[in-house]
Amino acid sequence: MGDKAQFGSKLGLIAATVGSAVGLGNVWRFPAEAQANGGAAFLIIYIACVFILGVPVMVSEFALGRAGRSDAIGSFKNIGAAKPWWAVGALAICASYMILCFYMVVAGWTIEYLWASITGSLYDLAAGTSLESSFTQKMQSMIQGSTDPLISTYFVILINIGVLVVGVQKGIERLSNTLMPVLFLVLIIMCCVSLSLPGAAEGVKDFLSPDFSKINSSVVLNALGQAFFSLSLGMGILITYSSYFPNSTKLTKTALTVSLLDLLVAVMMGLVIFPAIASFNLKDASLEGTTLVFVTLPEVFQMMPWTRLWSVLFFLLLTVAAVTSTISIAEVSVAFVSDRFKISRIKACLVTMLPIFVFSTICSMSLSGDSFLKIGGVSVFDFLDNVATNILLPVVSIGVCVYMGWFAPKGIMNDEISNYGSVSSHPAPAIILIIRYVAPLLIALVLISYFMN
Ligand code: PHE
Repeated sequence: MGDKAQFGSKLGLIAATVGSAVGLGNVWRFPAEAQANGGAAFLIIYIACVFILGVPVMVSEFALGRAGRSDAIGSFKNIGAAKPWWAVGALAICASYMILCFYMVVAGWTIEYLWASITGSLYDLAAGTSLESSFTQKMQSMIQGSTDPLISTYFVILINIGVLVVGVQKGIERLSNTLMPVLFLVLIIMCCVSLSLPGAAEGVKDFLSPDFSKINSSVVLNALGQAFFSLSLGMGILITYSSYFPNSTKLTKTALTVSLLDLLVAVMMGLVIFPAIASFNLKDASLEGTTLVFVTLPEVFQMMPWTRLWSVLFFLLLTVAAVTSTISIAEVSVAFVSDRFKISRIKACLVTMLPIFVFSTICSMSLSGDSFLKIGGVSVFDFLDNVATNILLPVVSIGVCVYMGWFAPKGIMNDEISNYGSVSSHPAPAIILIIRYVAPLLIALVLISYFMN
């Protein structure tokens, strides 16, 4: 096992963390939520959630991981957490493993669509049916089919194994350093193209015109939940990644940079999607996650000149966003298994990832209409998604805040934020205030509102 792995450069660790944060949450959840919940009014609230709550919680996950220098459970133990506290880390690992099972399947769909865009088969449509129903049928066969979705899911799992086996610096960091610039480049190109379509301004208005009357407490809680999911909080990812941060990494600055870039991608995604939809008069089309990206957007591409080029670029972007997120969430378990059982990365990868072949197959198969793979009336896929994202993530976030705010060894937040005195500790009091009082309370409200609905 040798020395503890570390990221090799500042840019690399930011690329990897942004790679985790930027995922389907930015592409298919944020734009639709913003549009439905008051446009710029929602954006302001979202920004407040990201910077007032998200950043401090991110800094506390970073502080925990870098001080503990281990996996999500080991980090608690290494900084001397009393007995029940490491259970927060255990919950984070459970949540991340559950998410991994279904996120692999979704990442598989993105690759399937990328491939179908490259070969052009996505646009071989039967004559005589509307574009919407043709693409809906395609989507049904592509995500509920019995072989293709599985093959692409297995392909994503193999990519994950390939990257994780190579290690933190040579695998995760190198991949992120290559793919993140590609993602930003494609996003900028698509933004320019979409904004220059005729009627684009109408779409920007749709997306961003402020409507404060839509803001109520449930919209605020939604924005908070979305911000936490999008920043990859409460999954053990940031604890694990920060255990690879060098001692010189400035935690507050890193958290701000990652959050800003994640926000930028989410807003730019909206500026890609809404102008294009408005320009082709698809305003009544569904903006629900999967239908938005797998039906509505292919309709847009079909109506544009150079259909396949835009389709390939978009699904490339989606694939990069999804795959870098799967890798970060898989690393949580790989790090845990290799630290806890003192085995090599290769063995830890296999122990962690081989069962995922089975679990993701179950998730994928649970989606077909007549599947018996249901728990409490919903598919295994939706069940894992619900339990992990709506229950476990808030619980873990509250646990981390309460532990780091109240019970961790005195001064640890201060020391980590100031790199043991070598940079300013100015942000520390505000961050500690937030993680002690404000964040746990508001996250608890998100959790309660989930149970009330
Ligand atoms: N931040 C990710 C997103 O927006 C959330 C995520 C990370 C999900 C890692 C799964 C794995 O999609």
